[in-house]
Amino acid sequence: MPDAVVPGSFDPVTNGHLYIIERTAQLFDRVTVAVVVNRRKQPLFTVEERVDMLREVCAHLPNVTVASFDGLLVDFAVQCGASVIVKGLRAVSDFEYELQMALMNRRLCPSVETLFMMTGAEASYLSSSVVKEIARLGGSVEGLVPNHVGQRLREKVRLEER
Ligand code: PNS
Repeated sequence: MPDAVVPGSFDPVTNGHLYIIERTAQLFDRVTVAVVVNRRKQPLFTVEERVDMLREVCAHLPNVTVASFDGLLVDFAVQCGASVIVKGLRAVSDFEYELQMALMNRRLCPSVETLFMMTGAEASYLSSSVVKEIARLGGSVEGLVPNHVGQRLREKVRLEER
């Protein structure tokens, strides 16, 4: 069984991400969750904070490690010894962008395969952006993100308001 990489911004990790990570961990011997260092986007959480939160929520998954990467995802996958990239698909609206990335990644590195996994039905309308907006507007994110991520999100939003 090849090793897999689950990449993303994870700003912050949601229950939808966790669903994909947990199911990927059942299918592959070793899984690396890869947090991108977004150079253009201005993330709410630093890359260290995002890695930290992921390590906490993946602590029950012994075959999952969390790392950050800067540069091309396929280079990182090769560096990890992984030949599969697993991405979650929520809706048709995700498809066009994901198809473009998968085909470009294949062109860049034909030995790395992208596999798509359908997200949990509960998470089909969930995204880190929506979760951040709810938190910023004072709504409850309970059930959308792991509990301690919700706590860190509320703290972060409070700091932002200062
Ligand atoms: O959670 P996101 O923001 O949808 O994740 C996007 C991610 C990290 C998978 C994507 O931005 C990525 O692969 N970035 C690394 C840079 C790269 O390899 N770009 C070429 C892809 S065609």
